[in-house]
Amino acid sequence: MEDFIRHLPKVELHLHIEGSLEPELMFELAERNNITLPYANVEEAREAYHFHNLQSFLDIYYQGANVLLTERDFFDLTWAYLMRCKADNVMHTEIFFDPQTHTGRGIAFDTAINGIYHALRQGEKELGITSQLIMCFLRHLSEEAAFETLEQAKPHLHRLVGVGLDSSELGHPPEKFARVFAEARALGLTTVAHAGEEGPASNIYDAIELLHVSRVDHGVQCTQDPALVELLAQTRMPLTVCPLSNIKLRVFDRMEDHNILSLLDKGLCVTVNSDDPAFFGGYMNDNFLALNRALSPSKEQLTQLTRNAIEAAFVDKDTRQSLHQKLDDFSANHGVH
Ligand code: HPA
Ligand code: ZN
Repeated sequence: MEDFIRHLPKVELHLHIEGSLEPELMFELAERNNITLPYANVEEAREAYHFHNLQSFLDIYYQGANVLLTERDFFDLTWAYLMRCKADNVMHTEIFFDPQTHTGRGIAFDTAINGIYHALRQGEKELGITSQLIMCFLRHLSEEAAFETLEQAKPHLHRLVGVGLDSSELGHPPEKFARVFAEARALGLTTVAHAGEEGPASNIYDAIELLHVSRVDHGVQCTQDPALVELLAQTRMPLTVCPLSNIKLRVFDRMEDHNILSLLDKGLCVTVNSDDPAFFGGYMNDNFLALNRALSPSKEQLTQLTRNAIEAAFVDKDTRQSLHQKLDDFSANHGVH
């Protein structure tokens, strides 16, 4: 089964590029940029990656991003992630970046997006991995700051498929960003939002009703509300679930308790994603393997998780068709019905 999982074609829809910064690259960039890190070495950094909730992670995550200064740094970060995609048979990926994490410390919006975008284009050409880029607003910052960020994005709209909402969910509900999301939609961007990770099921409703999201990031708290679970199943609203992240941030105590397969069996469009792989213990294969060890999914369930991600991807008809074809070929070759 582990071999089957490693070779399974995959689509990733929930990945913060800043969260793919491995300690090794962090040290390399710190040296290149003459920055002193609060860790003596790579091992000490990894040792600090023990979290008890979302906020305890975010504090360390934002600090790590301080080593990213130049376009080349953002390129190298994104390229390293794409190499992991290649190794894990990720065919298509839709990644988040947090412009405010960088503009807030004097790095230009353009520096970040140029580096990330050029790596994604090279990944398409040289690795055959298709991709999309989603810009997230930090929800602990103000509505005004989100509007400023949207303004800075205007020269780059052709490079963005949508906007998202991340950072501290508790105390910063979707309604705070209803107006800026409305403007983003008016500019032709799709919308997604983190909701129901640590926060209540009502945040999932509000993301759908007030932000008009096309996908919900995480969403695992939907099980607090059976009517919501029913609605998500009926509408096939995708949930970008992140199993290892949920364990590291104590959303579930143990992987054995995770609800992803029960939601899958209820007909929800759940998908598997790595969120912040450098901090949470692994990339796409690691997430599938961890689910496998704890919950013993069938081959049909595993392929359905990729089928859902293809259904939920922000791609044109031809790209979606070609992704389905690759998955169907794999299934046929591996006796999956
Ligand atoms: N939740 C909220 N904000 C984030 C996350 C997450 O899992 N990862 C990076 N920013
Ligand atoms: Zn996330």
